[in-house]
Amino acid sequence: MLTLGIETSCDETSVSVTRGRSVLSNAVSSSVHLHKKYGGVVPEIASRLHVEYIVEVLSRALEGSGKSLKDMDLVAVTNGPGLVGALLTGISMAKSLAYELGLPLVGVNHILAHLYSAFLNDKDKPEFPFVGLVVSGGHTALFYCEDVDKQRLLGQTQDDAVGEAFDKVAKILKLGYPGGPVIELAARSSVKKDNRLFPKSSMGKDSLDFSFSGIKTAVLYYVHQTEKRYPEGLPTEMVSDICYAFQESALDVLVDKAFLAASMKGVKHIVIGGGVAANTRLREKFHERSKFSGGIKAFFPKFEYSMDNAAMIGSLGEELYKKGYRSDMYLTAEPNLEI
Ligand code: KG4
Ligand code: ZN
Repeated sequence: MLTLGIETSCDETSVSVTRGRSVLSNAVSSSVHLHKKYGGVVPEIASRLHVEYIVEVLSRALEGSGKSLKDMDLVAVTNGPGLVGALLTGISMAKSLAYELGLPLVGVNHILAHLYSAFLNDKDKPEFPFVGLVVSGGHTALFYCEDVDKQRLLGQTQDDAVGEAFDKVAKILKLGYPGGPVIELAARSSVKKDNRLFPKSSMGKDSLDFSFSGIKTAVLYYVHQTEKRYPEGLPTEMVSDICYAFQESALDVLVDKAFLAASMKGVKHIVIGGGVAANTRLREKFHERSKFSGGIKAFFPKFEYSMDNAAMIGSLGEELYKKGYRSDMYLTAEPNLEI
């Protein structure tokens, strides 16, 4: 069957055509360039741009797949969590298409879709049960996953999400938005490569919860102190060293907790998803740790499916549909939708 997937929960407008876990097309337009000067996503701008972009993104997705609307069997759309105005554009489009074409409709949880985005891979696939780690701009959480509709929360952040910490640290260092990619890039040029500058918050030895507000504040104080010596602004090498130290501490906590969860639950597979999963250093750290962990293996989505995308919505939507899940014309945006 062919599924039309639609994603508009934040600043990416995306439409895809998928068949099972194969992606025929995944078109994306982002409004991120318009949010840069504000240092974060402005909901009103994001909502307005979804309305402007969505028809053109839909055309590109159909063209890229070589299919037409008449070929579709299902419409799957993100219905939360996310920005309410942004979500509504995708949901309205999905409902209109489902109604007009007489197709079934399935609402998909954006966080769950991130969790299963590593399945969009022809080769290596994770097996249930596994430990899932979602690392995005709004979420940092560990799950025990038994099936696509059966997962239990093991722990989550008690304050900032890890992506949010990257964004805030980039703001403190005046590096722009979004913070993840710029911090990763700056960290690569670090000469000192000192990873002891900032604390790692473990929340207790056996805890599977996270906290990232402490490290963010530690960076803020460190930068304020250091700026006294450099009133003209911090030298580039120093910014790189700070980025390196922050990134190492923040990412180590993710790796430590995910492996702890896997050994507590006795599972061999860890699946990572969400924007921060695009980070190359995080991938290195997981693969490195796998070598010394008695056969525990980490699975990441392809780079393009780490960021927000409709393909992950469409393919999970199809799996949920096959398990009997259905939405109707009352489907609406749920900004705080939980798993
Ligand atoms: O999943 P996502 O695209 O949107 C949400 O659902 O939140 O995640 C966006 C987050 C942002 O906080 C961004 O800074 C972070 O993912 N991010 C990264 C990288 N690329 C994006 N964080 C660390 N390293 C990266 N390379
Ligand atoms: Zn996301």
